[in-house]
Amino acid sequence: MKKVYLETFGCQMNVSDSERISTTLEKDGYEMTPDESVADVVIFNTCSVREKAEHKLFTRVGRVRNSGRKKPVVGVMGCVAQLEGETLFQKVQGVDFVLGTRALGRVSHAVNETLGKKRKIVDVGEREDDYDWTVADTHRHSPYVAFVPIIEGCNKFCTYCIVPFSRGRERSFSAAKIVRQVSELKEKGVREVHLIGQNVNSYRPETAAGLEGFEGKSAFTKLLRAVAETGMERIKFTTSFPRDFRNDIVDAIEDHENLCNWVHLPVQSGSNNTLKRMKRGHTIEKYFEKIDRLRSSHRDIALTTDIIVGFPGETEADFRDTVKMVEYCGFDMAYIFKYSPRPGTPAFDMEDDVSPAEKTLRFLELERVQRATQNERIRRYLNKKVKVLVEGRSARNANGLSGHSTCHKVVNFEGSSELLGNVVDVEITDIKANSLFGRLA
Ligand code: SAH
Ligand code: SF4
Ligand code: F3S
Repeated sequence: MKKVYLETFGCQMNVSDSERISTTLEKDGYEMTPDESVADVVIFNTCSVREKAEHKLFTRVGRVRNSGRKKPVVGVMGCVAQLEGETLFQKVQGVDFVLGTRALGRVSHAVNETLGKKRKIVDVGEREDDYDWTVADTHRHSPYVAFVPIIEGCNKFCTYCIVPFSRGRERSFSAAKIVRQVSELKEKGVREVHLIGQNVNSYRPETAAGLEGFEGKSAFTKLLRAVAETGMERIKFTTSFPRDFRNDIVDAIEDHENLCNWVHLPVQSGSNNTLKRMKRGHTIEKYFEKIDRLRSSHRDIALTTDIIVGFPGETEADFRDTVKMVEYCGFDMAYIFKYSPRPGTPAFDMEDDVSPAEKTLRFLELERVQRATQNERIRRYLNKKVKVLVEGRSARNANGLSGHSTCHKVVNFEGSSELLGNVVDVEITDIKANSLFGRLA
């Protein structure tokens, strides 16, 4: 049996795709291995959201080529594959096949063809209509948590972003199928699902099948309520797009305990000038209104975000607005990125006029402000009980367990392995960095 090693970069969509790639390959007679050095085939599922992410591919392929052993077949999948297509063969020596983001159903064919070293393969074509979305239990990133894609692609074309090009246009999956899938996962013992997509709240299926009778101004809110009705223990969803984030999403969270109290709502900037040039489609005042609604909820909803510093034309005053915004919102966590020009995006043609040194200064200052807010906010969990899904043993402590709270914080505590896969109450006694520590209540 030929062995395949698969390495994944990028977002949850890629993690989810990799689960399906592994499932498909195994069904077709390949063995997945975690050990690269014994693999006949090495596949990279790639990300191109920032230059650094893209660079990883070049370094990794180089390392495989120079490892000194018999060269395995090397395949590139995911976003870099979709964007580069055939040109990848010239850019990176030693690549045997290139398979785009919607061609992953044909991965076994690409592996079969290239293993004989007869020819190279490029496939950046569309998905087959009857493409099988099921994931084998053995290939899930956790036995208790499952990613369920509800929408793929993106139509927003924020000016800095490559995703609409690498993932194509938005396509929503059937609500009836999503609900059925969640019910089946529940039967199999999965305790938590993450409804995933570039913009989950832009969900717009072709028909209302599966959503009839559910309350909500948008199909997404109806879907949330429909999925909640399956009785799945915990439901999380990410990412939400601010412009399409309606207050009735918060109403649904308030009505259903199993819709978790965590919202990831990327803001990108606190300056209206910058937001406009990013083409985000909303003002900072509109964003604040949504934050106010989330904050007014009795559910204590944890709020996380993404921010870009040093976007073309970002002045010192624009940056000050971002600092003020971070102070106002009190995010539980923020992923801060320095702007990285992506060829093919509209912003690539704008002058990248914030110097690298200035980008670093802004990044560090914002990180400092955010960390202070975060450290302050996380203290609210001290001496409180949180519900934790026990996901694994902790690396540091022999008796240690770890998992996530409903608000998506990592929680560490002591207990026996029998608790794995259960939801338990943990009383928080200590806080370190961004993690909670406690004891079984
Ligand atoms: N769909 C999500 C985000 C997908 S990309 C959304 O709309 O929010 C994840 C994050 O990467 C983005 O939120 C953004 O903060 C960051 N990002 C995207 N393109 C970038 C670029 N060119 N430079 C720096 N950061 C970028
Ligand atoms: Fe990129 Fe904007 Fe689409 Fe998010 S909404 S994936 S940032 S284009
Ligand atoms: Fe990266 Fe593609 Fe996801 S560019 S962030 S892997 S959609």
